[in-house]
Amino acid sequence: MNEPLSSDEESPNDPERRQFLSKAVSFVFGGVVVAVPVGAGLATLLSPLGIKNPEKLKVRLASLDDLPADGTPKLFQVVAERKDAWTKYPNKPIGSVFLRRKSENEVVAFNSSCPHAGCSVDLSKNGGEFNCPCHASTFDIEGGIVGKSVSPRGLDELEVDKELLKQGQVWITFVNFKAGVTEKIEV
Ligand code: FES
Repeated sequence: MNEPLSSDEESPNDPERRQFLSKAVSFVFGGVVVAVPVGAGLATLLSPLGIKNPEKLKVRLASLDDLPADGTPKLFQVVAERKDAWTKYPNKPIGSVFLRRKSENEVVAFNSSCPHAGCSVDLSKNGGEFNCPCHASTFDIEGGIVGKSVSPRGLDELEVDKELLKQGQVWITFVNFKAGVTEKIEV
């Protein structure tokens, strides 16, 4: 015959047991509340899906001292880690940017991609303008169209982080824009 259980072992009304169950429930519930925002943050970081322009990224290109003080533009490659569903591609070039130091603490950045059809523009020998090798569009040092260039707009200026520039670091937000149209439209 089974012996009756002692009240210490199994009574559901035991205050210690109730306290233990209460703590356990609080712990589990608390874990769920914390896990939701962390999981959402990771999903945003790890998955390129759902990002309108996956190539829009903030990147450090140079220190201020790397740029010629006389205002001559200098070309920098933008390198980023990319991945598709199966493969991770470390440090793959995704574009390039001309940086120009306009004054002691002012830097302008242009996407080197020609707005006509996307060829990469070159800096002229004298450093005074940009030339596109594909259909001969020319841009002045401020990125504006020169003469009868076929490009529908000037070079696309990119955002430079002013706060980080004060610390001597040149960070830009890299974006590609739609070619062949007058407006500057992110792709
Ligand atoms: S791609 Fe530059 S002028 Fe056509």
